[in-house]
Formats: sequence, structure tokens, C-alpha cells
Amino acid sequence: MGETIRFGMSLDADLLDKFDNLAEKRGYKNRSEALRDLMRDYLVRKEWEGDEEIVGTITLVYDHHVRELTERLTDFQHDHSSAVLSSLHIHLDHDNCLEVIVIRDTAANVREFADHLISTRGVKHGKLSATTTGRQLR
Ligand code: NI
Repeated sequence: MGETIRFGMSLDADLLDKFDNLAEKRGYKNRSEALRDLMRDYLVRKEWEGDEEIVGTITLVYDHHVRELTERLTDFQHDHSSAVLSSLHIHLDHDNCLEVIVIRDTAANVREFADHLISTRGVKHGKLSATTTGRQLR
């Protein structure tokens, strides 16, 4: 952790007002906390542009009755077992499954895994959530 510094900033009063209102609605106790999280998010986005190791979660919703779909999704994860950290499977109802797969690899590889899984025939909805190993953040 670096030393804590204070800094001044010039900006439009209406903009600051809107920011403070939103930060309060989202549960931030003060402006500094809200700004810190914004900065961290900005830095994580930068991590995803490089070739560092990052972490992503891929959420999939699919009908497990679609022929060979479950096997295809599982085979893919076995083929990339060194990158797949964990997966969670939930039987949503008689037909639908939700799967969350946590992957650690380079951003390019994680994107490729996500694109492959999400575009697999029978997957109804898929989403990649981009996060970080946390090592670059304070
Ligand atoms: Ni299921």
C-alpha cells in the first residue's frame, strides 16, 4: 500500500453533485470511496487491454436437453483445465441450467474461451464479466 495523499480537483459543480448523489445511492459512505472504486475499475479495464494474467467469470444459461451440449461445454473446460479455476452449476428448472465458470489466463485467451462457450449452439445467454487477480491494485 502506498502512502495516502490528498489532492484538489476542479470540476463543474453540477457534475460533482450528480456524482455524489449517485455514489450515495449506491451505498458509498464518502466521495473518496466512490472515486477509488472508479479508478480501480479504470485500471482493471487497462489490464484487459494487455497480456497480463486476468480473471474472468463466464455465466451461461442453457437447456441441458439440447443434444450433446452439456458434454461439449464440459469437454471444453477439461481441455482448458489449467485456466479454469472453478465452475458452479445450478439446475434452474426442469430444462434450464446456469453455469458460472471462473477462468484465469491472459485477457485474449479468456475472451476466446468466453466467445467459444457463449456461441456454442444451445446456449441461450452468456456473459463475460471482466475482473482482476487484484495483484496490480491497492
Ligand atoms: Ni443442470
